[in-house]
Amino acid sequence: MENNLLNRKEIMTYLGKTQFDIHVKSVVTSTNTVLKELAKKGEKSGYVLVAEHQTNGKGRAGRSFYSPANTGLYMSLLLRPNISAENSLFITVSAAVAVSRAIEKISNGKTIPQIKWVNDIFVNNKKVCGILTESSVDSSGMLEFAVLGIGINILPPENDFPKELLTIAGSVFSATDDTNLKNKLAAEILKELETLPDSYISESILNEYRKHSMLVGKQVFVLSGEKKIPCTVLEIDSKARLVVRFENGEKKALLSGEVSIRL
Ligand code: BTN
Repeated sequence: MENNLLNRKEIMTYLGKTQFDIHVKSVVTSTNTVLKELAKKGEKSGYVLVAEHQTNGKGRAGRSFYSPANTGLYMSLLLRPNISAENSLFITVSAAVAVSRAIEKISNGKTIPQIKWVNDIFVNNKKVCGILTESSVDSSGMLEFAVLGIGINILPPENDFPKELLTIAGSVFSATDDTNLKNKLAAEILKELETLPDSYISESILNEYRKHSMLVGKQVFVLSGEKKIPCTVLEIDSKARLVVRFENGEKKALLSGEVSIRL
């Protein structure tokens, strides 16, 4: 991806008038970690950090997020919405919709991403994007801040994915001639995020999320520690929880956790 470097001015040009305060770095440990530190020091809502490369990219459940230079986009936003911790799932849901819309637009409608509840985006059955929302909650259960982190594999890594990710991870595009793709995609995602309601809670966003869901109606395993519990996904409910039915007939609404598709 020659010349395809992140550049604040380019992002701003594509984005136009914005409430976001955009900062670009070539390399950081983790955009989420850096932003959490700034948030604790009182940084304002709307601070965005975008990086070319992360040396310690973080995923959910303490996992790492492979973040090689040149081919990916690693971005975090500091948000201070007036919502309860219980509703923070809507931030991830909204971000998944925003990223899906942005990918669809940048690909001129050729790529329609699928969302795997709750925070993964897939293209051609491979994970191309992960979202990690980390929040700080006050004693009354309201969010002090949330750091919304989005990591996208735009193109295949220069030395391909590590062996353990080869069957799972993919990239949005296989190649490009567009030397400004990264800046355009960053701007498009921010543009979409900017249209979301301040509360992040919206029935229409939830419906769009449901439409892109790759899990509804599927036979899956809920992963609980070492255990894999078979069940069927019934729906994504009004609180963005995944409603499943276990083989004994019991129904449960999952608020978080890992699910793998049964093949
Ligand atoms: C996951 O797949 O479990 C979530 C991955 C989230 C990765 C993004 S990249 C930008 C931000 N900084 C991080 O360290 N993680 C998130």
